[in-house]
Amino acid sequence: MSKLTLDRMLQSQGFGARKYCRALIEDGEVSIGGEVVTDYRAQIETDGLQFTLFDEVWTYREHLYIVLNKPANFECSRKPSHHPGVLTLLPEQFMWREVQPVGRLDHDTTGMLLMSDDGAFIHAQSSPKRHVPKLYVASTHEAVTPALIEQLLAGVQLHDEPAPLAAVSCRAIDDHRLEIVLEQGKYHQVKRMLAAAGNHCAALRRTAIGQLRLDSLDLEEGEWCYLEMEQLALLA
Ligand code: URA
Repeated sequence: MSKLTLDRMLQSQGFGARKYCRALIEDGEVSIGGEVVTDYRAQIETDGLQFTLFDEVWTYREHLYIVLNKPANFECSRKPSHHPGVLTLLPEQFMWREVQPVGRLDHDTTGMLLMSDDGAFIHAQSSPKRHVPKLYVASTHEAVTPALIEQLLAGVQLHDEPAPLAAVSCRAIDDHRLEIVLEQGKYHQVKRMLAAAGNHCAALRRTAIGQLRLDSLDLEEGEWCYLEMEQLALLA
């Protein structure tokens, strides 16, 4: 059980500074269990809390764990320079909660992007010691050959890497598409590995992290969803 005053609760959910949240409450914009609550000092039980703000129902979440089906031409960087940032695809209050991408996808890579405001989770997920398989579908400029697959499985030497990097698994989907599973998350890794093996990546999509598959979440490109405990467990 944990309680917060109503103004602190709203603030914690990213709806604005405390003063602004107090004004919203006093203006009768917040209701809980069908009752408008205008006392910002009211002690609110946050476990399992649902509240209505501006006629929209929200569930209290201590932390946010999100999957975005990232479209092309969005940047993961906090200060995007050439394209809009992925945060612009989420509700505005998530930005105030300092939600950030867990690792990065290139601006032209599409697919599964984890996002969270839980620093410990982000840190654990991004640790190089973690060997979580990440599955990508790459479209290639040149045809996919058995020799290409062999090279990617055996390991290719990338500039600035001390040792060759190998795919955990790799298979041809068709003439110009392959599925590749990596356990590291080096900069431009799939594209650089393909180039080092003599082919070139024309398009890249991440389709799974750990045992969690993007297609199980039923998201159109640009759509996002919350991850619940059972789904988080699949990221291990
Ligand atoms: N590898 C890449 O080359 N790009 C990505 O966005 C992810 C993995």
